[in-house]
Amino acid sequence: MKTGRRNKIDTVKNLENLSDMGCGDKQICFMKKMYKEGDTDMLLRDLMKCRCHLMDEFHDSQKKVDNMDFLIRQIHKRNKGWENMSKVLVISTSLRAKSNSDILTEKLIEGAKASGHDVEYIGLKGKNIGFCIGCLACQNTQKCVIKDDAAEIAEKVKNADTLVFATPIYYYEMSGQMKTLLDRLNPLYPSDYKFRNVYMLSVAAEDEEFVPKKAESGLQGWVDCFERAEFSGSLFCGGIGDMGEASKKTEELNEAFEFGKALK
Ligand SMILES: Cc1cc2nc3c(=O)[nH]c(=O)nc-3n(C[C@H](O)[C@H](O)[C@H](O)COP(=O)(O)O)c2cc1C
Repeated sequence: MKTGRRNKIDTVKNLENLSDMGCGDKQICFMKKMYKEGDTDMLLRDLMKCRCHLMDEFHDSQKKVDNMDFLIRQIHKRNKGWENMSKVLVISTSLRAKSNSDILTEKLIEGAKASGHDVEYIGLKGKNIGFCIGCLACQNTQKCVIKDDAAEIAEKVKNADTLVFATPIYYYEMSGQMKTLLDRLNPLYPSDYKFRNVYMLSVAAEDEEFVPKKAESGLQGWVDCFERAEFSGSLFCGGIGDMGEASKKTEELNEAFEFGKALK
């Protein structure tokens, strides 16, 4: 069958499904008419209008979920007592679209919130973080001479109780962007940092036990320099290589949720 004709049939089929996409009967009638008359500009305008409406509903629902999460956390706090609740900072370092480590991080966050933790997420996508130049000025000033996004992240790292770094495995190591960030956290070394527990979530295409070891040892090296903190746990999810593949990995998604739930 010619591609043009197949596309036409697909479009007609999809127009039949407009009610499943949340469109009202009147709108559907109008859009079908536009399609029949070949006025695809008008049809597109109407479809975009419907999409906007759906997105508004989606954002409203997200707000409701956020409010519900807040209430759940508050009640958790009251039931369990303040001492079990931590301020958790999760830093997801993959820059890839539909990142596997990010997908698993989302589940980890759900688990952490279910335990009543106060969770903040930072993704490095779109952040501007330069390499450490090794001047060590920060050891006197507790500030970096490079003015970029690392300063704000360092402040949040300093004030969190618990840190989680999520990374894809690159050449059996943590991602370069995660290592760059760890180096740029050097101003915290002489500071009165609050964090005590540090965790890692790593993802790789291969599924052998040795795959995350060097990344874990790299993070351990960083943690060793902060003597009031400890490397409290690592979750490795192997056998996940393709973009977005993690969203289909039920077992690993559950593991990430449980890992988040068990954070100190
Ligand atoms: C530069 C680079 C190096 C990689 N090195 C490894 C590796 O050593 N071992 C492995 O199993 N996977 C390796 N991978 C695959 C990624 O770890 C895998 O695709 C992972 O799912 C990416 O996670 P993300 O989607 O969160 O970025 C590498 C990928 C890239 C881009």
